[in-house]
Amino acid sequence: MLEPTHDLPLNESCATALGVRVERRCFFAVSAAAIAAAVAPVGALARRTRESRAPLTYDEFLAEAVPMAKKLVGDATLFGQDQYLLTLAAFALRVPKIAKPELRPTGKGTAIGGNDTPDGCPFTVLHWTMDPGTKIGIHPHIYGNVVTLGLEGEALIQNFETVEPRDYESKKSFKVRRTVEQLLLPGHVNVVNLDRNYMHGFTAGPAGVRFVDITTRIREKRPTPNLELAGKPLDPLGTLFEATWVHT
Ligand SMILES: [Fe+2]
Repeated sequence: MLEPTHDLPLNESCATALGVRVERRCFFAVSAAAIAAAVAPVGALARRTRESRAPLTYDEFLAEAVPMAKKLVGDATLFGQDQYLLTLAAFALRVPKIAKPELRPTGKGTAIGGNDTPDGCPFTVLHWTMDPGTKIGIHPHIYGNVVTLGLEGEALIQNFETVEPRDYESKKSFKVRRTVEQLLLPGHVNVVNLDRNYMHGFTAGPAGVRFVDITTRIREKRPTPNLELAGKPLDPLGTLFEATWVHT
């Protein structure tokens, strides 16, 4: 459900699985700093921020992260994605504030928008808010991997993997493992690799939550089901569940 804008052409909007429209704006709508940084990625700004490890503005983040992302995005293997995502996460962790763009309500207690990225950027930046106590159901990421960065409030994030190889067409129940259970706070990240921790679901805390999903499409787009857990955990650790796909 967080993936559709990977395909979003410049200056056009598209409907997400939640039924809201998200627009990816033209390169020229990005601020002057981001443009300058994208044109000269190894310029003085990039060197200063790389050397200082100082907090980054959003434009400085783009200046640092986009050239690195372009270098690393081509390796879509498990470890290649790890290198890409964890590198991206290391830059994202230095960004304490990202301006809230225009957000469109989904009608389900959440709202979604998009922060600008420069032309040729491998990733999109989806900006989410969730009202207190609302949920985003568990769903697999099939074609776009994600770095989620908390900005405000808190949410419980759970990541899952199937025990056996994935079969999204299966009508039968199957076993899944909860591989991550994390409180997402401001400045925290959660990583969805398409081959590790590749399902996630969110529950917003009592004050709600605001976060961005830095999302990179690396595989062919296809319909994404939701995951429905059946009953209580099957193991002493409380991480193994019976589950089924729910296609909408
Ligand atoms: Fe997602």
